[in-house]
Amino acid sequence: MARSSPVINVMASAARKAARGLVRDFGEVEQLQVSVKGPSDFVSTADLHAERTLKAELMRARPGYGLLMEEGGATEGSDPRHRWIVDPLDGTTNFLHGVPHFAISIALERDAEIVAGLVYEPTRDEMFWAEKGIGAYLNDRRLRVSARRRLADALIGTGIPFGGRGDQPTYLVTLARVAAATSGVRRLGAAALDLAYVAAGRYDGFWEFGLFPWDIAAGLLLVREAGGFVSDLAGGQNMMTGGGVLAANSHLHLLLASLIKEAMRSARPAT
Ligand code: IPD
Ligand code: CA
Ligand code: CA
Repeated sequence: MARSSPVINVMASAARKAARGLVRDFGEVEQLQVSVKGPSDFVSTADLHAERTLKAELMRARPGYGLLMEEGGATEGSDPRHRWIVDPLDGTTNFLHGVPHFAISIALERDAEIVAGLVYEPTRDEMFWAEKGIGAYLNDRRLRVSARRRLADALIGTGIPFGGRGDQPTYLVTLARVAAATSGVRRLGAAALDLAYVAAGRYDGFWEFGLFPWDIAAGLLLVREAGGFVSDLAGGQNMMTGGGVLAANSHLHLLLASLIKEAMRSARPAT
């Protein structure tokens, strides 16, 4: 891995260790698809097991750091400046259905700013990582966001609200606008990887409402360090608290932001 620092090595080795368990469990899940009950209890256990492994590895390497983990919540550390933000399994629904598109996401916050991020996709052995001021990488290859300037040429990732969550009518208006203006919209089902794909120039942009800090903390830094722009859906920087995210290269970010803002306005007419 090129130019990686001790902290990235800690994150990468914790992710690889937890991923070994996830890959074993994923093989099991593929077998369980045919049972009537399905693999959901098994998947919850796999998720918790990955989180326990990550917690143990990160705490062993940096005992004083705090933690924010999707399943276990927040743990304060003796060092108030540092905190890990961890999603042990992003793309749970894919995992549950035997779809091989899921990842582990780990970010490090220092003084409330994300300074390192890593998203590991074990089935393709793709390790996306970034450090503030150092750049974004896929394994040992430097990443840049795409250079496309026209919405008509752009491939955009998104997340569709599901299971009664979120404001689906508003979302569907934004989807209709973006789909009509671009060369395609994809919903692959793992937000951390969606952001990594923007950083890698695979997607030209990505937007979603209602995400959590563990879904996006690492991915936001990946996009920034690959030269891209990230904001919330109003153009501000409240992604970690508000959950709305828009990521793209600088040209498309402006165009997508106004398209989505306009779509949201039309979906919620003034009363
Ligand atoms: C989910 C995925 C999905 C996004 C959801 C997230 P999970 O995370 O990132 O793409 O649409 O909002 O909750 O539950 O698989 O960790
Ligand atoms: Ca997630
Ligand atoms: Ca998760």
